[in-house]
Amino acid sequence: RRTAILISGRGSNMAALLAAAADPAYPAEIALVLSNRADAAGLARAAEAGIPTAVVESRPFGRDRAAFEAAMEAELARHGVELIALAGFMRVLTEGFTARWEGRMLNIHPSLLPAFPGLDTHARALAAGVKLHGCTVHLVTPGVDEGPILAQAAVPILPGDDEARLAARVLAEEHRLYPAALAWVASGRVALEGRLVRLEAPPP
Ligand code: GRF
Repeated sequence: RRTAILISGRGSNMAALLAAAADPAYPAEIALVLSNRADAAGLARAAEAGIPTAVVESRPFGRDRAAFEAAMEAELARHGVELIALAGFMRVLTEGFTARWEGRMLNIHPSLLPAFPGLDTHARALAAGVKLHGCTVHLVTPGVDEGPILAQAAVPILPGDDEARLAARVLAEEHRLYPAALAWVASGRVALEGRLVRLEAPPP
């Protein structure tokens, strides 16, 4: 399935998805890397890998999220995109956009949802004193960080951890988890029962 990765910054999860998709047997083909910021470091990494890139700046649209999304939709259509993987994409999407891409748009979030939705997840996990932390790949629904959970990976919080050490430990798991979860969706193995995800057997 033709997949777009949407980024706003560094793009390390994007790079993990590109690496997985370099295998011809991988069920998602990365057709586009789209950023809402021209200065996203991930854009150069994608271009180096020979992946088509596009920038749709969100800032000029101000609060008109629907107009921003219409400009993104034009790029997505131009590249024949069927699936979207949000990877550090820092804009909240409208209900209309999420409804149009329902079941076909994934996000990775740096916490064990439903704990710590939103921003600053590592600092909040440290402050809460939890002993396990991690990351979640979920389908995107209108509520931010609320969609059906596809996969999670847990890491321990260790004595002496600070935000940077914890973030690095979680990030290593993100890079493992996201390519696996995208492959499940791209190969049609994900069935939804309400908000529960059932994983069907891989095709023979
Ligand atoms: C990751 O921690 C991801 O979970 C979150 O934003 C960060 C993006 O990092 N949504 P990168 O751009 O993929 O390196």
